Amino acid sequence: MSALSPPRRMILNAFTMNCVSHIQQGMWSRNDTRQTEFNSLEPWLELARIAEKGCLDTIFLADVMGLYDNYEDGADTSFREAMQVPVNDPMLLIPAMASVTRHLGFAFTSSVLQAHPFTFARQLSTLDHLTEGRVAWNVVTSYLPNAGSNLGFDGLPPHDERYERAEEYLEVVYKLLEGSWADDAVVHDRDRRVYAEPDRVRAINHRGPYFQVAGPHLSSPSPQRTPVLFQAGMSERGRTFAAQHAECIFVVGSSRSAATLAQDLHKRAHLQGRSNTDMRLIGGVAPIVGGTESEALDKQADYEESLSIEAGLAHISGNLGVDLGGIDPDQPLESFRTERVQGFIKNLLDSAPAGTRTMGDLIKSNLAGAWLTGSVEQVADELERRFHSGLDGFNLTYTVTPGTFVDFIEGVVPILQERDLVQREYASGTLRKKLFGQDRLPSSHPAAAVRF
Ligand SMILES: Cc1cc2nc3c(=O)[nH]c(=O)nc-3n(C[C@H](O)[C@H](O)[C@H](O)COP(=O)(O)O)c2cc1C
Repeated sequence: MSALSPPRRMILNAFTMNCVSHIQQGMWSRNDTRQTEFNSLEPWLELARIAEKGCLDTIFLADVMGLYDNYEDGADTSFREAMQVPVNDPMLLIPAMASVTRHLGFAFTSSVLQAHPFTFARQLSTLDHLTEGRVAWNVVTSYLPNAGSNLGFDGLPPHDERYERAEEYLEVVYKLLEGSWADDAVVHDRDRRVYAEPDRVRAINHRGPYFQVAGPHLSSPSPQRTPVLFQAGMSERGRTFAAQHAECIFVVGSSRSAATLAQDLHKRAHLQGRSNTDMRLIGGVAPIVGGTESEALDKQADYEESLSIEAGLAHISGNLGVDLGGIDPDQPLESFRTERVQGFIKNLLDSAPAGTRTMGDLIKSNLAGAWLTGSVEQVADELERRFHSGLDGFNLTYTVTPGTFVDFIEGVVPILQERDLVQREYASGTLRKKLFGQDRLPSSHPAAAVRF
């Protein structure tokens, strides 16, 4: 793929969720945000138009399939604070948002625990057809035990077993999307009365430990076949998985830990026969911008008043699998053990000298997202610095919506465009073509091995 890759530029995604409150908890109570209107279509259509006007690459929708229910022994705080509940299906927003845009991509999250891969592969193809190839799938393995219980697993399967399931899930999806219909299967020949050539469509007859799927796939080949693959595995097992399959990989933590992580992911990818240009590393940032630095700092101070520490603790408790009600903020982080989202803790530990990080640091680093506050030039400078230190792009987390995105697009994007760091207009074609220069996954990707 390297020969065809477009020049390296910064990728920007508007990161949100089909719910009231995604990451910066408590903000929904303000009157300068549309978060509580999430049940209606109109704010989503507005956001899609704004994102496309700003030439962003995608709107990226997070999702969970269960409650954060372990803080102070239950989900009361989550319900009171609308902390990722109520939460609607992200996928169903996409055709509507696609209908008011021409180029913007749409990435959505779906867990390998949630839908049978046969059903899910058909949904992927349908979305890829309807959007003319503008879809990406964020592959997740779930971390909330309530999600596992909701989906018939009686709690969550163990961490590494979830990745084993994910491997097979992807294998089934690849076989259906890439291997079931030949490129020339659909002939649409009215004279001969042949829509599809039967001998160019085949069953997949997959039999594995988790899934048995005969096939053939029921949808015809869509523009990208497999949508662009997003992933955010941070653990040892998660990184191996990401290096093998993912095209956009999320890295969290400071620039230093992100650079170390980037090196590690590239090394793992090379072992799989993939190259650096086959993947993009995406960091996270929550921009708070003003015309001047002091204007931005005033804005931040105002936002801080609205943050809900309580809801933040409920969020982090769910992420970590540990009830943080009554935690000692001075407890050394090294002494803290959890089965879940191990990568977050490792990143934080790696970003400071041994023995200096505490539970308080963990709580603070989670609650505000990753605020980057400054004048439009200062924010542009910092993103440029991170881009040059190895990150290929950023998920923009909102504090208020669509206000955070509008501020960024009106203030920072023109500066980044002036510096030739982001696109001024969209390239034509599918999302993968815009990001990587070609519609289909490259031959170095494991999906290519099962092609028709
Ligand atoms: C930017 C970003 C977005 C994520 N979005 C979701 C999500 O929407 N749903 C979800 O279940 N997990 C999400 N995760 C969690 C990851 O899928 C993964 O579980 C986590 O990074 C821990 O990795 P590990 O399981 O390899 O330790 C996200 C992580 C990051 C960094």
